[in-house]
Amino acid sequence: MAEHQLIEHDVIVIGAGGAGLRAAIEAASTGASVGLVCKSLLGKAHTVMAEGGVAAALANADERDNWMVHFADTMRGGQYLNSWRMAELHAQEAPDRVRELEAWGALLDRTKDGRMNQRNFGGHAYPRLAHVGDRTGLEMIRTLQDHGIHQGIDVHMEVTVTRLLKDGDRCVGAFAYDRERGRFKVFKGKAVVLATGGLGRAFLVTSNSWEYTGDGHSLAYHAGAELVDMEFVQFHPTGMVWPPSVRGILVTEGVRGEGGILKNSEGRRFMFDDIPPLYVDQTADTPEEGWRYVIGDRDARRPPELLTRDHVARKIVKEVKEGRGSPHGGAFLDIAWIKEHIKDSEAHIKKKLPSMYHQFKELAGIDITKEPMEVGPTTHYAMGGIRVDPDSQMTTTVRGLFAAGECAGGLHGANRLGGNSLSDLLVFGKRAGEYAAKFAQESGSVAIGQDQIDLAAREALAPLERDPGADVGPYRLQYELQELMQDKAGIAREEDGLKQALDQIHGLQQRARRMGAGGSREYNPGWHTTLDLESLLTVAEAVAMGALERRESRGAHSRIDHLEKKKEWGSFNHVIKMGPGGEMEIRREEIPPIRQDLKDIIEEQG
Ligand code: FUM
Repeated sequence: MAEHQLIEHDVIVIGAGGAGLRAAIEAASTGASVGLVCKSLLGKAHTVMAEGGVAAALANADERDNWMVHFADTMRGGQYLNSWRMAELHAQEAPDRVRELEAWGALLDRTKDGRMNQRNFGGHAYPRLAHVGDRTGLEMIRTLQDHGIHQGIDVHMEVTVTRLLKDGDRCVGAFAYDRERGRFKVFKGKAVVLATGGLGRAFLVTSNSWEYTGDGHSLAYHAGAELVDMEFVQFHPTGMVWPPSVRGILVTEGVRGEGGILKNSEGRRFMFDDIPPLYVDQTADTPEEGWRYVIGDRDARRPPELLTRDHVARKIVKEVKEGRGSPHGGAFLDIAWIKEHIKDSEAHIKKKLPSMYHQFKELAGIDITKEPMEVGPTTHYAMGGIRVDPDSQMTTTVRGLFAAGECAGGLHGANRLGGNSLSDLLVFGKRAGEYAAKFAQESGSVAIGQDQIDLAAREALAPLERDPGADVGPYRLQYELQELMQDKAGIAREEDGLKQALDQIHGLQQRARRMGAGGSREYNPGWHTTLDLESLLTVAEAVAMGALERRESRGAHSRIDHLEKKKEWGSFNHVIKMGPGGEMEIRREEIPPIRQDLKDIIEEQG
C-alpha cells in the first residue's frame, strides 16, 4: 500500500491563480471546508500576466457601454464559436465582480471624478478595462489572496496533482506529491474544481512560466472529461524578442491602449495597411481627442494597433517574413512618440506603464520613454479547454468535477479579447465555487478505492525506477516538443506540418513513457519534469489534432493552406475525449442555436 497523507475537504480547488482563489473564496463562504492546492507558491500565477486591465462594462469612460455591447464584442472576437450562454453571463456579471473586488480592497486607477478608470483594448468597442497601471492582474491576485486567507481556506503549496480519483462517474479527489520531498498526498473531496490555467509551456516562445503545462486539461481528460476547441491558442502580438533570455515575456496590450504604435524597419505604421482609408480620421489626431484614429464605423476612437490580437500578431509576422522586421525578428512598438502630444510624457508613461518601463530598462537596457521596444508574438493563452456546463461550470461528463478560468473552454471561442481573461476568472471562478459547494452539500459521502491510490503512486514513481541514461532526458524531450509545436502548430499551420506534428507527438509519448528521471524523490526537478511531460504531450496532441481537423482559418487558428474562414465551420465546436482504447478521439458538435434575444443584440450591435 502506497504511503500517503490523507487530506479531506468538502471542496478541493486545484490551482491558486485568480480563478482558483475566487472559487475557493466562494465555496468557503457557504460554510464548506475548502482545500486549495497550488503547484507553486500562493500568488505566483499567470493571472499577473493580464497586466493591462479587467474588462467590465462599467460605462465609466464611455456611458454608451453596457453588458450587451460587451457580449456582442466577445462573440465577434470569438468568431461566434463561443458558448453564448457563458458570454452572456460573463458580460452581465463582470461589473459586479469588479466592484466586489474593489470592496475587498483592490486599488484601481481613477477618473478625475473618482470612478474606476477604463482604458481601450483590442476588439472592445469602448474603453472598458479597469486597471492599475500595468499591474492589474497582480493587484487582483493580491486582493483575492488577502481576502481569501481570512476565509478559513487550507492552502497546500508546492504540491503537484498527478491524477484525479474517481468513484464510478464521480470525481472524489486527487493524488498528488509535494515538490520538496516527493511525499504523496491524497486529497479526498465531495467536489473538485480545476483552475490550473493554461498550457503555454507546450510552445517554445511563451509568456507562461514553468507551471503552465496544461495540467488541468490533462487531468480532466484522463479522468474522462471532454475538451473543447483545443486548436485555438492565442499568440499575443507583443512579447519581448530580445535579449534571448527574456524572449516571450509579455509586453502588455496596455502599451497600445495608451497610444503605443507599431512600426516596421522602414518606419511605416504597417497596421494601417488593411484599413480602408474611409475609416481613418486624421483630424482626431490631437491630444484632446486622445491622438486616436477612428477605425470601424463606430464613434469609438481606437488605433488599428488595437484590432484583435490574432490580426495584429499575423501582421507582425508578415512584416518579419517580408524582410521589414526589427533586428531581432519582431516589430517596433513605440510609446515614446506621445511626447508630440503630451507635455510630461515621460512621467505619464512611467505612471501608466511602470512595469513595462522597468522590464525594458532592466532586462533589455531600453528606456521606453525615449526609444521603441522590439516585440513579436508570444504564446499567451488557451481559448480551448475543459468542456463545462455554462451555468455551473461542472464538466459535461464527470460528476463533481468543475473547471474555471483558463483551463475551462467555451467563453472565448476562436479568440479571446484582452482583459476578458480577468473578468472570466472572477465570474466563473465564483460560479464554480458556488456550484461545487452546492454539489458537495447535496451529494453523499465519498470513498476512494485503495487500488486507485496504489496505481497513481506506481505511475508517479516509475520514472525514478527507469534508466536515466536511456534517452536524452526530460528537459531535452520537453524542448523537442516545444520546438515542434512552435514550428508546426504555432501561428501559421498547414496540413503536412500538423500531420508530422501528430506523428512526432506520438513518438515523444512513447519515449516519455520510457524516460528515466534519475535521482530520488527529494528536491528533484528532473522527476517533476518527467511527470509534467504527460500533461504537455496530452495538450499538444489535442491542439495539433484540432488544428489538423479545422480546415479553415478563424480567430487564432490560422491555416496557410486554408486561408479563408468557412461558413460551414462556423457552427461547430470540436470536442475531444479519450476513446475506449485509450486513444484521443475528436468529433464535431453543433453549437446549440443562440437564443433570439441574444441574436437580436448581436445584430443590433453590428
Ligand atoms: O496585454 C495584456 O495586458 C494582457 C491581458 C490579457 O491577456 O487579458
